Amino acid sequence: MEYIPEPFRIKMVEPIHKTTKEYRQQCLKEAQYNAFRLKARDVYIDCITDSGTSAMSQNQWAAMFMGDESYAGAESFYRLEASVQDVFGMPYVQPTHQGRAADYIMAQIYAKKGKYAIGNMHFDTFRGNAEVMGAYPVDLCIDEGFDAASDPLPFKGNIDLNKMQALIDEKGADNVCVVIITVTCNNNGGQPVSMQNIREVSALAKKYNIPVVIDSARLAENAWFIKQREPGYENKEIKEITREMFSYCETATMSSKKDGLVNIGGLFVTRSEDVYHQANQMAIVHEGFITYGGMSGRDMEALAVGLQEACEDSYLEYRTGQVKFLGDLLMERGIPIIQPTGGHGVYVDGRRFFPHIPQHEFPSQRLVCALYEESGVRAVEIGACAFGSKDPVTGEDIFPELETMRICVNRRVYTSDHLRVIADALARIYERRDQYKGMKIVYEGPIVSLRHFTAGFELL
Ligand code: F0G
Repeated sequence: MEYIPEPFRIKMVEPIHKTTKEYRQQCLKEAQYNAFRLKARDVYIDCITDSGTSAMSQNQWAAMFMGDESYAGAESFYRLEASVQDVFGMPYVQPTHQGRAADYIMAQIYAKKGKYAIGNMHFDTFRGNAEVMGAYPVDLCIDEGFDAASDPLPFKGNIDLNKMQALIDEKGADNVCVVIITVTCNNNGGQPVSMQNIREVSALAKKYNIPVVIDSARLAENAWFIKQREPGYENKEIKEITREMFSYCETATMSSKKDGLVNIGGLFVTRSEDVYHQANQMAIVHEGFITYGGMSGRDMEALAVGLQEACEDSYLEYRTGQVKFLGDLLMERGIPIIQPTGGHGVYVDGRRFFPHIPQHEFPSQRLVCALYEESGVRAVEIGACAFGSKDPVTGEDIFPELETMRICVNRRVYTSDHLRVIADALARIYERRDQYKGMKIVYEGPIVSLRHFTAGFELL
């Protein structure tokens, strides 16, 4: 099986610890079978997220020493601004402390009460903000993107143009306030969006004067897939591709904790001077002055360098290759996953893994617990718990189409042997899958869309 070696060598290490199965069973019980409530020190290989978990390079650490911590007009801001302009090809840059703060500002500007916000699949933090604003987020990804068992397609993150046109026709263009394209699409496997789709969605939106925003947490991974899979882009540089992607939108938000290769930070980037001024006002109230927006000077320095490193071919080839390697190991062991593997992790299909556990008994959450119990590996459920909702009138549970366990691969952190540990543990569980039963929720917080962070479960 092909493994693309790391384009770096390791000069600082962080010890991780194995524990016993009995100890992990106790930990699970104390955490009420919710992986978010486990202590990180009790986790051996942590794949709960790819957010804020990257290893930084020597150049990033070195740049941090140059942090200019001035309140206003810091040199570090101007270095970050230049790096962002280079990657995004957009003029106005407002830093934020992380992605959801940029989402908040974006929602305040673009989400309008009683109007529809179209997306391929909105990420929860925008969804939450939109709901607070009284806007209706709708997911209009292509059908194959909602089916974890669909045949492999190169761009399962694409928006379905027919669905978009139908929504505009049905509701009226005046009732659609924004289109948000999330690249890559986090909710369905880190699946990319093609340049053609971004171009066509943007043209359709423009026809009706609807602004387009790109949620760009994983912009470099998306650009890499365009380079690999879309005719006409094979010889382009990654930054040429990212700039073309953003040429089709008015504004972009970014959680820099992913493809920024940093542990904290966010961006609100726009080509509209008016939108920029609005964002500045909100940043000053909620984040910090315009030239730091909740980030320290040293963190802006690390991001300025990280963004550039994330756009290097050698890094992206290794990065996406590592995710594919884990996917191939799982497929070799017969484990059902979303295909093809996407940018930041492997998503195991909970329905096909545990066909005997109905969705209301949380098959993917059960798998998260089984994996931790078996091996100390922590993944995360993206299914009935995380994306379940309740009918506002009857209070009845509504279950999402996708029912998966996401195994995120941290950037530049784990080796191929760590990935083998994950694959072997899952294979052992898969062999005795009939023995597992479902779970029930015994505690959930009042905000259903956020219940997965704090929920408590019992095994059935
Ligand atoms: N947009 C997308 C597409 C994301 O994946 C995330 C975070 C955010 C916005 C919010 O950014 O965390 O910096 O405030 N995703 C993480 C995850 C948490 O695990 O997928 P943030």
